[in-house]
Amino acid sequence: MRFVPLEKLINLCDGYSRQFKIDSLQLLLVQHEGERYLFEAHCPHRSHPLQAAVIGDGMIRCPLHHYDFSLSDGRLLHATEQPCRALRTFEVVYEGNELGLLLEY
Ligand code: FES
Repeated sequence: MRFVPLEKLINLCDGYSRQFKIDSLQLLLVQHEGERYLFEAHCPHRSHPLQAAVIGDGMIRCPLHHYDFSLSDGRLLHATEQPCRALRTFEVVYEGNELGLLLEY
């Protein structure tokens, strides 16, 4: 496992939202009400970017078709058309004064 740093803790605050590309992964790191979340940057329904998604009540809502996903584990909570797979989420890992994720390669 290797630690991949994404952001310095000092730069994080509520409303923070930034996209990262790590190898073939496109990730979105957000902070909402003091909690930090890391998940894939595009909706699993039809790949709409989630940068402008609405976050609240423990879920993220894609702005295109309003599918809701759990912030804790990415599961689909609400669909307006055909169900889709869960949103891929990643554990936020802290090392020193940075936040990042662990990758297996
Ligand atoms: S693309 Fe996100 S809900 Fe359809």
